[in-house]
Amino acid sequence: MMKVLFVCLGNICRSPAAEGVFLHLLKERGLSNQFLVDSAGTGGWHVGNPADRRMQAAANRRGIQLPSRARQISFDDFSEFDLVLTMDNANLTAVQSLARKAGARATAMIQPMLSYAHRFSETEVPDPYYGGEAGFEHVLDLLEDACVNLLDELSPQA
Ligand code: 4NP
Repeated sequence: MMKVLFVCLGNICRSPAAEGVFLHLLKERGLSNQFLVDSAGTGGWHVGNPADRRMQAAANRRGIQLPSRARQISFDDFSEFDLVLTMDNANLTAVQSLARKAGARATAMIQPMLSYAHRFSETEVPDPYYGGEAGFEHVLDLLEDACVNLLDELSPQA
């Protein structure tokens, strides 16, 4: 069982979308039982909330559901998960700092999500929260690209 955690700032837009896109791909490929997938935020403002309704609407238009309820990342996540994927550079810095504080139990590998993108050269998933509709679509375009390549890499035999 491979355990993957997607992380952004609020855990209501980008990382719930990444989680939903990845879960959707797993279902399509019949690999759902081989992965545990979750998302979390470096911030705690939205804890308990469902994904932003604009993010959900954009995902639903692509046939993707976003089951996430927001939670804040914890020290335990760095021992519980194999892979932690961050959406932007601020998330990456915050997560690396937390992992250092978690000490030797922090065994998870930490990587930028877009290190898996092939079709796009951007290195960060932009925060769509204060922008328009197009921002949410672009987040999904980036995440679909990265998720396909991530899964190809994690399940080369499938
Ligand atoms: P996310 O977007 O990090 O993609 O979930 C955000 C949503 C809300 C806030 C920040 C980022 N906020 O500060 O309320």
